[in-house]
Amino acid sequence: MNSSDGHPVPPTGTEPAPGPADPSAIVPIDDAVVQVRHLSLYYGDSRALSDITMDFPRNQVTALIGPSGCGKSTFLRCFNRMNDLIDGVRTTGEILLDGQDITDPAIDVIQLRRRVGMVFQRPTPFPKSIYENVAYGLRIAGIRDRATLDAAVERSLRRAALWDEVCQRLHGSALELSGGQHQRVCIARAIAVDPEIILMDEPCSALDPRSTTRIEDLLGELRGDYTIIMVTHNMQQAARVSDYTAFLYEGVLIEFGATKQIFTRPRRSETEDYITGRFG
Ligand SMILES: Nc1ncnc2c1ncn2[C@@H]1O[C@H](COP(=O)(O)OP(=O)(O)OP(=O)(O)O)[C@@H](O)[C@H]1O
Ligand SMILES: [Mg+2]
Repeated sequence: MNSSDGHPVPPTGTEPAPGPADPSAIVPIDDAVVQVRHLSLYYGDSRALSDITMDFPRNQVTALIGPSGCGKSTFLRCFNRMNDLIDGVRTTGEILLDGQDITDPAIDVIQLRRRVGMVFQRPTPFPKSIYENVAYGLRIAGIRDRATLDAAVERSLRRAALWDEVCQRLHGSALELSGGQHQRVCIARAIAVDPEIILMDEPCSALDPRSTTRIEDLLGELRGDYTIIMVTHNMQQAARVSDYTAFLYEGVLIEFGATKQIFTRPRRSETEDYITGRFG
């Protein structure tokens, strides 16, 4: 069902959500890898994302911030169709990845997930060797040649700033590494299949400060080669590592712009209240 202006009408029984953001608080992006257009998402009758329209800049780090329950993880999961795994989820609107609508049910989700990798809050190494953890996606893609695998594993571990620590024990269990090393194994695993986009949902929240610094440094090195979309609760982290920041509140995109602008001259009072710790 569509309204007179062509936008989908939410199902009856849905709580009214705050209106979409003031368009002047959403900056346009010149080279967008992802274009989100009027995206809404419903868990059953309950709307978790409301009419989000924004672009994600290619090969930059974008932070998603906002209070608990505002829809950050839900939004992130839209980019690799992880919400498909949850019963009763429905979306309206479009997410264009290089012009192709990835919300289309006909899309090849396996292929999509090779283009859009994910790193979770809790590191999730498999109970396998470090080498096999990193080679996992390549093996699934049918690559068997040892030299190709060896080269990809080394390259990915170097990019994840882990090679020097593990090169003598590649065939030892990944589970025996520290939490910070686990997260870098997971980042190496994501990088190994050469994705265009890497999604990260609070990648440092289970890590100690030293490991967090290493991951933040790593993000700085990956920027420029990958588009990174990262959820964080840590305002200092968002300010340190991201190029752009999107502020969500109750499923609505309130403001999106260059991180520097968002943190120094927010256009919306809600953004200012959140980043200065007045709520959330
Ligand atoms: N599987 C689900 N089924 C039904 N509702 C859900 C589900 N997952 C999330 N929600 C609801 O959607 C809303 C957004 O949740 P989401 O997990 O995306 O928020 P978040 O911003 O990531 O929060 P946090 O910062 O606490 O991780 C919340 O109201 C939540 O209760
Ligand atoms: Mg979350």
